[in-house]
Amino acid sequence: MANLQLTDDVPAVADDGVWLTCIECGESFAPFEEVRYTCDDCDGLLEARYADLPTFDEFEGEGVWRYSAALPFEEGVSLPEGHTPLHRVPRLEEEVGVRSLRVKHEGMNPTGSFKDRGMTVGVRVAQEVGVGRLACASTGNTSAALAAYGARGGMETLVLLPAGKVAAGKIAQAALHKARILEVDGNFDECLDIVQDLADRGEAYLLNSLNPFRLEGQKTIGLEIMEEHYEDYGEYPDRIVLPVGNAGNTAALYKCFRELVKAGEITEEQVPKLTGAQAEGAAPMVEAIEEGNDETRRWEEVETRATAIRIGNPVNAPKALPGIRETGGTAVAVSDEEITEAQRDLAGEGVGVEPASAASIAGLRKLRDRGVIEDDESVVCLTTGHLLKDPDAAAEAGNDPEPVDNSTEAVLDLLGEN
Ligand code: F0G
Repeated sequence: MANLQLTDDVPAVADDGVWLTCIECGESFAPFEEVRYTCDDCDGLLEARYADLPTFDEFEGEGVWRYSAALPFEEGVSLPEGHTPLHRVPRLEEEVGVRSLRVKHEGMNPTGSFKDRGMTVGVRVAQEVGVGRLACASTGNTSAALAAYGARGGMETLVLLPAGKVAAGKIAQAALHKARILEVDGNFDECLDIVQDLADRGEAYLLNSLNPFRLEGQKTIGLEIMEEHYEDYGEYPDRIVLPVGNAGNTAALYKCFRELVKAGEITEEQVPKLTGAQAEGAAPMVEAIEEGNDETRRWEEVETRATAIRIGNPVNAPKALPGIRETGGTAVAVSDEEITEAQRDLAGEGVGVEPASAASIAGLRKLRDRGVIEDDESVVCLTTGHLLKDPDAAAEAGNDPEPVDNSTEAVLDLLGEN
């Protein structure tokens, strides 16, 4: 099991109080001297570490860079991102039956998903290490964010997508923001294998969530939730439910909470229970949690309408599984029908999300039905991407347009008013 303990020792390789540590063997590396994504010695995942961890009163401004004291840089390539709404959803709250329910809508970021938070930091690091071409494998949203932030930073971008399995809005974004788009006859995990190869050969700078700096940006989702929830209720949420694919966000939120505990800002008891939701057809994390495994099994065949989380090999599992377990959380699989129902229910509250995002609400509902989540809990559900990302799924889940003749009378007839 990975060792995710934060220590007080600052290694000699630290640069301005920042370094990288392997979560498996503990080896430390200079952060920006060379490009590396995993440990030179054991290939374990790397984590950014800091000599000083900030307290809440050190944060100022708005958005991701409000939290620069918790990030490796003061500013980055910004559009700007973060500062997303923490919606109230009173009808859903009442129906699901919890003490409070809020929806953190990450679809309100500049390119319509939480990936922007990671890219603003990741592209800044790419500039620091001085690389040319940026690349990612993607189920769609990462490619849209990479293309936009790469364009903003004046850098070349390359994205590998699973052919026929990426929602229309996301491809349109990557295309218009000038990414070179390669459609691979394979699934997301296979695209990521190729991009990792390219990165290892020095052909591109990898900006998937395997890149530890991207997760630093995504950590700010947790900081925003903690601050706003405390302001509204005088307490932190008991639980955060989130959709899981590569488990980057799960890992990022866990890191956020470990750092807050280490800084003395919250107690271990105040850490929200991290609760992952996956689609039934792509649920290796749920399998690992249910079977008590320290590793996930790679699912070669994956399928779900929630194409954003159509992932069989969650690369951040070594960081995320301890996060779910040590916070007292769990993971749950939901069907495509349950996802669509939750997508409609959120839309009925005015919150438009893509299918993968609705997995969080579907997961909450299922865990309430099973009695795993209790009625006195305060819950935040993360919705990760905007409705317009996947217009086909939205049209299918919503009302059908009705043709009508070109006259007021015909409209009134149809409405039954005549
Ligand atoms: N929700 C949405 C809308 C996503 O796009 C993704 C991941 C996730 C949830 C899962 O997040 O990987 O941190 O567990 N999308 C990636 C992509 C894989 O390529 O856009 P995770």
